[in-house]
Amino acid sequence: MNTRHIPPAPATRPDVCQPTGTAELAMLDVYMPMMKSAAILSAGKLGLFEALANGPRDIADLADTLHASQRGTRDLADFLITIGYLERHGELVANTASTQRWFTSAGRVDYTPGLRWTLEAWPMMGDLTAAVRRGGPETTLWQAMEEKPQLGATFSAYMDAFAGDLGPDLLAHVPVLPEQCRLLDLGGSHGMHSIRFCQRHPQLHALIVDLPSALSETDATIARHGLSERIHVSPGELLVHDWHGQHDVVFYLSVAHNHTADENRLAIQQIHDALTPGGLLVIHEYLADTPGNAFMAAFRLTLLYETGTQTYRYEHYRTWLETAGFAAIERIDLDPLEKGSLILARKA
Ligand SMILES: C[S@@+](CC[C@H](N)C(=O)[O-])C[C@H]1O[C@@H](n2cnc3c(N)ncnc32)[C@H](O)[C@@H]1O
Repeated sequence: MNTRHIPPAPATRPDVCQPTGTAELAMLDVYMPMMKSAAILSAGKLGLFEALANGPRDIADLADTLHASQRGTRDLADFLITIGYLERHGELVANTASTQRWFTSAGRVDYTPGLRWTLEAWPMMGDLTAAVRRGGPETTLWQAMEEKPQLGATFSAYMDAFAGDLGPDLLAHVPVLPEQCRLLDLGGSHGMHSIRFCQRHPQLHALIVDLPSALSETDATIARHGLSERIHVSPGELLVHDWHGQHDVVFYLSVAHNHTADENRLAIQQIHDALTPGGLLVIHEYLADTPGNAFMAAFRLTLLYETGTQTYRYEHYRTWLETAGFAAIERIDLDPLEKGSLILARKA
């Protein structure tokens, strides 16, 4: 077993992931994060950041484009300036470099779908107290998506944006050999991980298995990338689904935290059985090894009310993998840690 830690870059952890609550003005810890979230989400929904993607504008022009009042646009812009999302250029307002990078189509990754998803998650958060009492959700996210299909599409679009952020890490750390031709992407959703690997490795063909709610846009996305001949989609519940024979590489990316320990043990055994000798399993996950980390704790609380599942420690994965017969198990912590960890394992 080999544990490889990528050396961390100079500390870049955002302040929001640091403990807060100086207790000097206690309500500020409640009021300010609420206003900050509400303002950023409203800006995303109004299309304010995108409206500034091509350069600074004055408030009247901006309000006109957003079909919003000048008073509302000014108050929203004033607050977004104070929290570093916008800046003033004389009489004009502009995106800051970070907003331009993360929340517009001109940036490296456009997380606007994440803002749309967070607007959906916001009312669900109202059930947190009851979820804490119950020890889980009344209705899981997946059940909610069956009743409200748009929820699934919004979630997949957010995961697609996140995949744009994670994609370069995966390509850098996941070796695919020239003789490895078949990729199975379990919980592959939007399809972007399969698409990137098929673009990088011309011999690869991929099969994406996910719940129907996650796949409404996937065929169209694959077609847009000209890969309909090489990537296919198969809707279904992954633990009981036909995975269409043997595969050389299996992705289990951000899926384990949606399953119980028993389900993961079973899935990892099934993956082992479905891999060709020397085949590679790639897990992406948020590991429960860092108890003091605010983001990881927030994520576990989200799972309590969204799915009722949890994150697991690296030792759990190692035990499941070794029991299934995997070897050459390798852990790669991404930087920053809030991006999660990769676990690679080979079928002997
Ligand atoms: C957090 S998303 C990750 C999506 C994608 N793998 C990625 O890394 O961007 C988890 C995905 O697992 C899928 N999923 C959860 N439970 C599943 C199940 N029992 N069977 C099939 N897919 C499932 C969800 O629909 C969702 O698309």
